Amino acid sequence: MKNYFLLALALLLLVNCKNQSASPTGLVTEKAMVVSAREEASRVGSEILKKGGNAFDAMIATEMALAVTYPFAGNLGGGGFMVYRKSNGDVGALDYREKAPISAKKNMYLDSTGSVIPAMSTSGATSVAVPGTIAGIFEVHRILGSLPMEEILAPVIALAEKGVVVTEKQAQRFLDYREDILKANNGFTSFPITCKAGDTIQYPTLANTLRKISKEGRKGFYEGKTAKILSDFILEKGGYVSMEDLSRYEAKWRQPIIFDYKDLRIISMCPPSSGGVTLDQIFKMIAPYDIAKFGHNSEMTIQLFTEAARRAYADRNYFLGDPDFVDIPLDVLLSDAYIRDRMANFTFDHATPSSEVEHGTIEIVESMETTHYSIVDEMGNAVSVTTTLNGAYGSKLYCDELGFFLNNEMDDFSAKPGIPNMFGLVGAVANSIAPEKRMLSSMTPTIVEKNGKLWLVVGTPGGSTIITAVAQTILNVYEFNLSMQQAVDAPRFHHQWLPDVLVFEQEGFSNELKEALKLKGYIISEGRTPIIGKVDAIRVLPYGRLEGGADKRGDDTAVGF
Ligand code: DON
Repeated sequence: MKNYFLLALALLLLVNCKNQSASPTGLVTEKAMVVSAREEASRVGSEILKKGGNAFDAMIATEMALAVTYPFAGNLGGGGFMVYRKSNGDVGALDYREKAPISAKKNMYLDSTGSVIPAMSTSGATSVAVPGTIAGIFEVHRILGSLPMEEILAPVIALAEKGVVVTEKQAQRFLDYREDILKANNGFTSFPITCKAGDTIQYPTLANTLRKISKEGRKGFYEGKTAKILSDFILEKGGYVSMEDLSRYEAKWRQPIIFDYKDLRIISMCPPSSGGVTLDQIFKMIAPYDIAKFGHNSEMTIQLFTEAARRAYADRNYFLGDPDFVDIPLDVLLSDAYIRDRMANFTFDHATPSSEVEHGTIEIVESMETTHYSIVDEMGNAVSVTTTLNGAYGSKLYCDELGFFLNNEMDDFSAKPGIPNMFGLVGAVANSIAPEKRMLSSMTPTIVEKNGKLWLVVGTPGGSTIITAVAQTILNVYEFNLSMQQAVDAPRFHHQWLPDVLVFEQEGFSNELKEALKLKGYIISEGRTPIIGKVDAIRVLPYGRLEGGADKRGDDTAVGF
């Protein structure tokens, strides 16, 4: 009898523990918050919220402030995705992903023997796709904005003119990429790559470009003088983006991927990003198990998550591409029966070799060159945005006359089916190149509701590791009861089907754990281990207060009031 009583008490405590959310350890604010890769950008966004702008106005300000403060990934020359949830519960998604130029061809990166030409899709003018970011911010403004565009962009222009202080991490990046940037720009660039930590960099040319856009609208970028300068610059260097490409670019509203996980409703990005679909599959595959009981980053949790990710990434690489060009069997891929079947051969006894799902050998590279920001405003509108140039400083091509870097997003296409791109992702025909097609992405801006209310806003950079980092962050809060900041900082692991290796971050995983996994057939990535993701997130606490999770891996900062 006594034993039953103790058991009942223990169960009660467990249930209560799960229902009681973890105490916050990140910045807590009462009303509104912006979390991004740079304090200055979060501050610009937060100031817009303070003066009465909504989350969408703050999105525009933060996106552009990141282009000034974080040129590594923040951009005018790239693209991105936004997922939103309005305070009334309406949800939606904006696709401002770059697209292939009109003159693009399926085999444009192959030589006469059919081999991929090294670096052609990854650096310099040939790797540049048609940028979408400026169309994105104007589309957000047109449909959802509340303040005049000039008012939103004024503090960004002021910041570019006043200048931004170089952080230690930024100075290191300048050092790391100096040679590559010089090489891509024929030995000279006006981009200040020799600056040291503590220096202040002013960006007068970028300020001029922003001023023109602020005055003339999207035409100030996609048409007229700016478009001419930009396309001449790219074409002269052997690239493909023409004036016509720029004038034809449109951001597209799309239906986000929405699915339930226990009592959560998860809203994430749909194709041409693979983020939402792959996230949905991973969560559906782990849902039948009580992962909380297995424990955070325990052997069983890692096994279950890895096997789900392995199967979901295999599907990602084969089935997904731009939905305007390929039919994606979403109803099948996300159906319970299909998911059950995919996990039918899963066992805790041993790893499922990826060769039994498919096969191939490739390498994972560390990459943090995208950037994510999360915003919640006073009314309860939430915005989750991931934006990118693709690689570090994109193609490394810097337009001196306009003051920004251009993307190398063409590499996100599958240049040749079966051959891995720079993230080791093996693509298929669904993601092959075609004129005006959007390349498949892994970006996973996500919003989570709990019991019908806004609960989390989350996302990260990290190339192919984005999806697993977002999934683990949500699980960390929901299943393992970590605070937002703890969930963001917690050590992460990654598997993407091919290569068949399990990657662990440097800290937080014992040798014993790795040995146990090896005995079960898991191939553990040895040597230098990369960081996986750099998550910026917001959790809604009881009474509407907000907790920021700004990843300790970068200069990321939460600002709010
Ligand atoms: O869209 C994608 O999936 C990639 N272009 C993202 C690149 C990225 O995350 C790089 N840095 N972390």
